[in-house]
Amino acid sequence: MKQLSCQPAGEPESVVTIGSGLLGAFLGDAKAREVFAVLDPFMAEHPTLRAHGDLTQHWHEHIAEPGEAQKTLAACETVLRAMVAAGLDRESLCVAIGGGAVGDAGGLCASLYMRGIELWQVPTTLLAMVDSSVGGKTAVNLPEGKNLVGSVHPASRILIDVDFLTTLPENEFRSGLAEAVKMAIGVDRELFELLDRQSDAVLDRQPDVLLAVIERAIAGKIAIVEGDLHEGGQRRLLNLGHTLGHAIEGLGRGTLAHGLCVARGLHFALELARDLGALATADFERSVGLLTRYGYERDPLPPTDELMAFVQHDKKVQGDTVQFALPTGIGTARVEPIRLDRIRQQLAR
Ligand code: GLY
Repeated sequence: MKQLSCQPAGEPESVVTIGSGLLGAFLGDAKAREVFAVLDPFMAEHPTLRAHGDLTQHWHEHIAEPGEAQKTLAACETVLRAMVAAGLDRESLCVAIGGGAVGDAGGLCASLYMRGIELWQVPTTLLAMVDSSVGGKTAVNLPEGKNLVGSVHPASRILIDVDFLTTLPENEFRSGLAEAVKMAIGVDRELFELLDRQSDAVLDRQPDVLLAVIERAIAGKIAIVEGDLHEGGQRRLLNLGHTLGHAIEGLGRGTLAHGLCVARGLHFALELARDLGALATADFERSVGLLTRYGYERDPLPPTDELMAFVQHDKKVQGDTVQFALPTGIGTARVEPIRLDRIRQQLAR
């Protein structure tokens, strides 16, 4: 078992526990508290949860809608009203157990209920483990775009238990892996080399190698978040691949896996960086090679006009530019304003 700490200046600490077989003990730490658990539907009958929930007083459960369906303001109202019905007060604890959508929507509810109650996160997908559970972002979607309504409400405790990954569907596994590949390309050269060297073991889900990748990806994210919790500067690097990724995902209207859209967005960001002269051809080729090794192909894109309609609503747009994360080497990137018409031009290539 490993523990990492994330403590941006002036903020409470988040403790990340990484290992396997830890869920029972983790929940046991909350036994004396009034707990409201927001659960992914597939977690409802999880044996460890049932053993804990059925025996523990003051344990309230809400089974969320599957996937992105729960990431609406209407679904959050349902959760918040269930919190009232359960009699939660300001000292109560919300535990979000599931994939990224549960963490995002459950986290938003925890941040809103009585102006904020304590949150713990138990991510059950690789995507939520390496990215969304750490750093405090919570959000729901609007029809106009993804994650347009949200807050920053870091979990005080996060449990990363790789046991959940043994049964994770392949599509979801590869979706999560794409966020680790993003960290490798834009933030952490050592993670790049690890993913490059160990691709077979990673794709085989060998637990020791997965643990190393997850720990490295989280440590990289913590280093960024500790310096910029509210995304005024360096945290924007974590949006690498997301400008186009969110647009593709938005056009898919909830049918496409987030990480797979980000992986396509990474191809785009690498090409734009190369064409702008920000990225050497050799580093471009190595990065594309890593994407390809993990099965992220440069698939044909939807029509440019349709993509641009989403890009224009991106949270990173300022006037006629978007704050775009451009890879600049292996494990390095920078954020710079790129004109929207330059994005359009690149898309049309
Ligand atoms: N997923 C990007 C971030 O947490 O900032």
